Amino acid sequence: MTDQLPTNIPRRILALRAIFSTNRAYRQFEERFRYLLERRRAEIAAGVIAEARCVALIGASGSGKTTAVRHLITTQTDLISNDPETGRMDVASLSVPTPATLKFVGQTTLAALGFPLRREKTAQTIWDMVKDHLAARRTLFLHYDEAQDLSRHQTPKELNSVVTTLKSLMQHPVWPVGLILTGTEELKTIVNHDAQLARRVYPVEFPRLNPLLDTDRVIHLLSHYTERAGMSVGDDVATTEFAARLIHAADREFGLLIELAISALEEAMRAEAEKPEVIHFTHMFRKRAGCIDGLNPFVAGDFERIDCRRLLDRGGET
Ligand SMILES: Nc1ncnc2c1ncn2[C@@H]1O[C@H](COP(=O)(O)OP(=O)(O)OP(=O)(O)O)[C@@H](O)[C@H]1O
Ligand SMILES: [Mg+2]
Repeated sequence: MTDQLPTNIPRRILALRAIFSTNRAYRQFEERFRYLLERRRAEIAAGVIAEARCVALIGASGSGKTTAVRHLITTQTDLISNDPETGRMDVASLSVPTPATLKFVGQTTLAALGFPLRREKTAQTIWDMVKDHLAARRTLFLHYDEAQDLSRHQTPKELNSVVTTLKSLMQHPVWPVGLILTGTEELKTIVNHDAQLARRVYPVEFPRLNPLLDTDRVIHLLSHYTERAGMSVGDDVATTEFAARLIHAADREFGLLIELAISALEEAMRAEAEKPEVIHFTHMFRKRAGCIDGLNPFVAGDFERIDCRRLLDRGGET
């Protein structure tokens, strides 16, 4: 079959990466977003100005936060992402820049709205411009990814001013804007730092996978990806024990687990195997982490003691 030729591997991998696997946290996140979106639209239609709200999506690195927001924004068919005629941008999305000073965050937000600054301005002026442009573009939601960075390398005074500014966006008297914040555990510290902000935030957490309770789900996920890769499911990777190893290898993070599974399927494709086997996962992990078999969760007997996150992070650096 021409589809199975090794030259088609990049295309097949791309197709696997394009699959979005949903989960309970994502559904909760989407539901909340839809609720706030419809509420805001109803208010606009009725000419009512009410405070907007914030959804905070919290999860460890590799849990799938960035992917979740990208999927949400691109799949809501009633959202206008950037209309060239009217300039309408229902959701503006950006990563918190470093350093996350009030001025730099404002400047980066302005650029995301399509207005890069050409001249030096004060933080106050920049944020006034941000608010004007949010109204001009009819922006309903502003998304900050890596929102935990808002508190990194930050003086308490700077953090206060950033938090106050975020609140002022939601409380704007003419064009209130909802917030979506995505970030790691530290994001909770920022949210809880200010009671007024905390009251306006709806948190959604990406829970870590559980090696005892989530094995069936992982086996199912793996067979789904295997079938979509045009292969049949191997018996030795469809076991509870193997699923527990894969969960551990991914440091219990949903997104990372999918990423590792796709890399292992790529190994199997390159080996021209009919089905993915443990050896393909072993090779994949060895390549990514650059570690000996004693530290490879797909080989080692007592795999639970291995710090896979540290191995993968270190491997990624080289
Ligand atoms: N729902 C999903 N379906 C399929 N793949 C996913 C899903 N969520 C995440 N992934 C995959 O997992 C990997 C990590 O996801 P992502 O970058 O979104 O994580 P993150 O939580 O934003 O991590 P970080 O905090 O490091 O930025 C990516 O390769 C992504 O393609
Ligand atoms: Mg991310």
